[in-house]
Order: sequence, then structure tokens, then C-alpha cells
Amino acid sequence: MAPAAPFSPPAADLPGKPAVAAWVPPPATKETHNFAELQSIDLAQMDSEDPAVVDRLVQQVKHAIREDGFLFLENYGISLEQLHRQFALAQYLYKNITAEDKERLLFHPEDGVWSGYKHPFGFKRQKGVPDGFEQFNWYKPDWEDQANRVPTCLHPFMDEIEAFCRYLSESVNRRLLTLFSRVLELPDDYLWDNVQSHGSPTGEGYFRHALFRPVGQETRDASKGLRMHGHTDFGLTTLLFSVPISCLQIWGQDKEWHYVPYKPGALVINIGDTLEIVSGGHFRATRHRVYRPPSDQLHEERLSLVMFNSSQGDLPMEPALVSPLIQRDGCVEDQGIYKEYRKRTTVGAPPTNRQWREIQIATCTDPTDQEHNRIGVHQTIVDGQIMHQREYMGMKVLLPV
Ligand SMILES: [Fe+2]
Repeated sequence: MAPAAPFSPPAADLPGKPAVAAWVPPPATKETHNFAELQSIDLAQMDSEDPAVVDRLVQQVKHAIREDGFLFLENYGISLEQLHRQFALAQYLYKNITAEDKERLLFHPEDGVWSGYKHPFGFKRQKGVPDGFEQFNWYKPDWEDQANRVPTCLHPFMDEIEAFCRYLSESVNRRLLTLFSRVLELPDDYLWDNVQSHGSPTGEGYFRHALFRPVGQETRDASKGLRMHGHTDFGLTTLLFSVPISCLQIWGQDKEWHYVPYKPGALVINIGDTLEIVSGGHFRATRHRVYRPPSDQLHEERLSLVMFNSSQGDLPMEPALVSPLIQRDGCVEDQGIYKEYRKRTTVGAPPTNRQWREIQIATCTDPTDQEHNRIGVHQTIVDGQIMHQREYMGMKVLLPV
């Protein structure tokens, strides 16, 4: 393939832009036990003129997404300095957003979207027990009406934030979907053209600035150290930037939670439900959660940037049966969401991608919710393991606590 152009953002020192303090990454944890080992994909290898190098890369991706559902991506075209500028903007947001903007832009998750500002009191518009983290999410309407839908303090920097999201979508995610299309033995642009949504810098998906602050005793007692319940992402791919504060954990095949290690500058790529189903279960949507960090990081703030790539909303959730891989090997029906999906589609039409994501957002549960996080309510025991049990559109989802 022709070499991908590197990211070239608008200048940070254009007239009218206030000075922004640099983001200084906090120290990484000194703890080493209980960390996952993820495969790392060098995206620049896609540009190799040697077909054997590209073939090896596709095989490496195939293995990583079947085994782990998570992988590191490196050499994707954004430098560490450019990335740290984006973290500095997120840090600037949480230092400068006004109380008035927090109120005016407060999210409406009950509508099935995260668009806007999430207060640090749970996943409902109504404030609940403090959970200590804030988010701002940009969806299509937020890009289209920045003057009214984006915190005022960020207005001077929207050229940089928008360019960053366009590059993540149109270059990084597009190349990633090319690799995944090749694993399915489909044309390079199959997933980009037929599954990925378009029409804004984030398509029908969204970009997030999140800030997790250390929490007090009330929250720690209520959530038992959890910051976000175990879940799979509902979309196509999630691109999250590796950060020094280790809170992200993945559920291993050994049925234990493992921290994802810090790899400076790398993207952590995570497969969503849509891609598991499109791939006929050949790709694995891995369960993950956000948990308290190791003890030497308990008092640090964790800043996080994430891009959630979504599929076309009207598309039914179905396997790409044109895939020669699926035609030859069939679907992999013994795991996760695909297994439940098969049961559901024997008795009715599959949900659309929009239905699937909106129901999950609208009914999202809080780790601090002691009323529902109990056995017999939202929890059950399977093979001696406490599981969080949810049901969306007739599909049961069981997640380890
Ligand atoms: Fe997630």
C-alpha cells in the first residue's frame, strides 16, 4: 500500500489560542505482577513493499484478536509529542470547564447516547453516589454545533481536537479495519465501506476526554474498588491511548482479571460486540473493566482519551457471510456475545447496531449501586464465580465481577 501520511495537526500557537500547560505523565506503577501480555502490532508494516512482511502482520493480527481481543498498536502516525498535546487539552478542559457549562452540557444517557458532560456521580443524569470521574463525549451533533455543544474553554482548540479525531478515524481506524478485512479474507475496504459509520469526525461513534480522580471511603466501600463494571464495548473498535495509571483490566482465559501494562505512545485496541458478530465469532470482544490502580498509584489522577468507532446504526447485527473465512470455517459459536446472539436470532430478527448500543447506554449500571449489585438482583453465581447479569433485547450478557 502507499505509505500512510503522518498526522499533521493545526499549530498550537495560532493567534487567539491561550497557553496550555504541558501534560506531564505521572510515574508508572512499580508493581509488575498480574499484568497481561498483549501482542503489539506495528501498523507501519502495512506500508512494506515486501508482501511477506504484510502477510506476517495479518497473521499476527488474526492470532491476537482471536486469543485476546485486545492488542497494542504502534507506529500509527501520531508522535508522542502530538499525543501529549491532546492530553494537555484534556487536562485543560478539567481545569477550566465552568460550573455553568457542566450544567448546560450535562449528558442525557437515558436517550441512549453519552453526548456531553458526565458528572462524577454515576451514569444517570440524576446525581447518585459519587464515582469520582468525569467525561466529555463528542458525537456528530457536537461536532456540528460546537458553539453551543462544546465547553467554552475548548473553543480555541477545536481545530486540533477535530483534526486528531479525523486522523484517528480516517487513517488509523481505516487501516486497522483493512487489516481486519484481510483476516476475514474480504476486500481491503469491506469493513470501512459496509460496517463503519461515516458523516462526522467520529461517524456515529464518539470521542471522549475522561478524568478519574482518587475516590473517598464512601465510594470505595460501595464499589469494592470497581470504577466501571466489567463489560464488552458495543461498537466496532475502541482506540484508547495507553496511560501510566494502570486501571484498565482484561478478563483472561485463566478466568482472572489482569491489568493492561503501560506502553508510552501506544494505542490499546479493543474489539467491540459488532465486530465479534460481523466476524462470526472469529474475533473476540474481550471483557474488560476499570478498577482501582496498584497501591502506589491510588492517589494519582488518571486522564484518558478514547475514540469509540461505531457501526452504521441501521445495519442489523449479522455475520459477514460473504467472508471466505466464515464460509470455510463456519462461525465460532462457543463464546461470549456470539453464543447469545445465535440463540436470540433463532427466535427473531437480530437487533440493529443502533438498538444494541442505545439500550446499553440507557440502562448502564453503576459500580456504586449497592441496591442492584447483589446476588439475586443484577448478580448471579456461575461455577462459583459472581457474575453481573444483564439482558438486552432478549440477549443475556454475563460478566465476571
Ligand atoms: Fe470499554
